[in-house]
Amino acid sequence: MLTGAGISAESGLPTFRGADGIWKSLRPEEMASVDGFSRDPATCWAWYQHRRRAYHAAEPNAGHLALAEIARRVADFTLITQNVDRLHQRAGNSAVIELHGNAIENHCFRCGEPAGAVSAESDDLVPCSHCGGWLRPSVVWFGEMLPVDALEKAAQAARSATVFLSIGTSAQVYPAAQLPVLAHHRGATLIEINPEPTSITHLARHHFRAPSGTVLPQIVAALPGA
Ligand code: OAD
Repeated sequence: MLTGAGISAESGLPTFRGADGIWKSLRPEEMASVDGFSRDPATCWAWYQHRRRAYHAAEPNAGHLALAEIARRVADFTLITQNVDRLHQRAGNSAVIELHGNAIENHCFRCGEPAGAVSAESDDLVPCSHCGGWLRPSVVWFGEMLPVDALEKAAQAARSATVFLSIGTSAQVYPAAQLPVLAHHRGATLIEINPEPTSITHLARHHFRAPSGTVLPQIVAALPGA
């Protein structure tokens, strides 16, 4: 299954394209791109530190917890996420394919050396211990390649799925948005959970037009042996 920002909405984290979405007030290429960071690393870093504080303060919601339960109960389960907040892992999903990286860890903008997590308290830029360049969050920015390994595993899971759930994503950002389409074309039953219709709704066998924090616990309750 594929998740997007909508699954974390009920944890109080804003989505990107909703009415109060992050990209309504900010231009993505200014905050989430190599050019944006090169032009103004301090502003870009401070924005990610602000988001990290929100991620740390947020708790996994009923939708995240239900997905962790589904992973325990369903054999051959793959969770692919576009989210960078690590709430799936905090809910108990250990094997998560992070297509867009994660906002908790960092690496050096100059030399690429991994740097792990840093305190989110200060907005001050942090130098790389290796080369002195600035650290950047380990998210995939606009114009950057997705991690090849993650994308291959995700495509393989989509190709071989019998059921594919698309949850809380507007399905507008590629190549992630291609995964439910690929699964559908390979014969999977596509199920969408989203209060709004999206570009893939017409392909879905079922569209649960409600919040994932409501629908996913109901799916858990309907699993055999529940
Ligand atoms: P979007 O903000 O584009 O879409 C969020 C979706 O969640 C919308 O379709 C909402 O209708 C839906 N939604 C809102 N509340 C929900 C709820 N409680 N339950 C279920 N669905 C709900 O977010 P993404 O599709 O994740 O990329 O965006 C994809 C990528 O665009 C992000 O990973 C990010 C962004 O630019 C990068 O930063 C690389």
